[in-house]
Amino acid sequence: SLPVPSIQEIVKNDFQSVPDRYVQDRPITSQNLVDSHEIPFIDFSSLAKGDEHETRKLHLACKDWGFFQLINHGVKEEVLEKMKAAVSAFFELPVEEKNKYAKAENEIQGYGQNFVVSENQKLDWSDMIYLITVPAESRKYKFWPLTLPGFKEAMEEYSREMQRVAEEIQANLSVLMGLERDGLKRVEGDLKQGIRMNYYPVCARPDLVLGISPHSDGTSFTLLLQDDDVTGLHIKHNHAWLPVKPLPNSLVVNVGDATEIQSNGMYKSIEHRGVTNEKKPRISVATFMFPDDEQEIGPLETMINDQNHPRLYRNIKYVDYVREKFSRKMQGKAHTQFVK
Ligand code: SIN
Ligand code: FE2
Repeated sequence: SLPVPSIQEIVKNDFQSVPDRYVQDRPITSQNLVDSHEIPFIDFSSLAKGDEHETRKLHLACKDWGFFQLINHGVKEEVLEKMKAAVSAFFELPVEEKNKYAKAENEIQGYGQNFVVSENQKLDWSDMIYLITVPAESRKYKFWPLTLPGFKEAMEEYSREMQRVAEEIQANLSVLMGLERDGLKRVEGDLKQGIRMNYYPVCARPDLVLGISPHSDGTSFTLLLQDDDVTGLHIKHNHAWLPVKPLPNSLVVNVGDATEIQSNGMYKSIEHRGVTNEKKPRISVATFMFPDDEQEIGPLETMINDQNHPRLYRNIKYVDYVREKFSRKMQGKAHTQFVK
């Protein structure tokens, strides 16, 4: 990938500047602004108790929205706040310091910018740092800002909590797809975890740029923590972009491509994007849950029925899925199409 400057630095030096490489072909509109109350809420504590009504709600959310807001997840507010503070503190470091953790070429972990495939591609108005957290053997501490007070501790606590929440969601998805609670775990193994911390600086012309281009996640599912007071995430719903207004102490969960494939298309991995604003930088923390590279993913037997639900996707090794996905220009569009 090609080197890209830090957008945080560009804005710091000149707030008015919106370099051409960031200007989208079409203006960024937010049609059909709705209240996030429309997006389904799922009560984690009810799911964990096996409440059938809540499980049914989860089914509908994954099928009709591909997104939901998770409440009562039991992650202490203090853990969430510490995590957000750690991310803020990291991005506040001088760029020379952040560059010590720079993502190397052919490396997905580290500090840098969104994946870039060509010279003429539009760039996203965001910087990020991505760290694989689970299993612990996959951690590469050379990309961790270990000298930043509290960072490692905040990550470890947050990571542990996300793993707990994710395992309950995986168990519920198993049941919804006709398996035992441990069914998906048997099929896809233990879920791995990577944490991507995003920084979206303010922008003088939010109508011209995107914080993150439209994409679907290549994960099993993703858990998103965001600032309480800045809206930036938009999700595609009924062909319109809906802003997701942050709900304090909740997590936004979205179905990823792997679950769409395993569910044989019943659950939808939905396109989403990030927008910017003129007033306040925004931070978000995306926890990606995904199978091991060597696992094969494909529609579960329980989700295939020759009469009504013929197989929609071929089986593919997860690593090959990801490689294929990223070798294509991701700008929105039908993510899982190429495995049909
Ligand atoms: C992402 O989709 O990777 C990030 C979304 C967000 O920052 O809200
Ligand atoms: Fe995403």
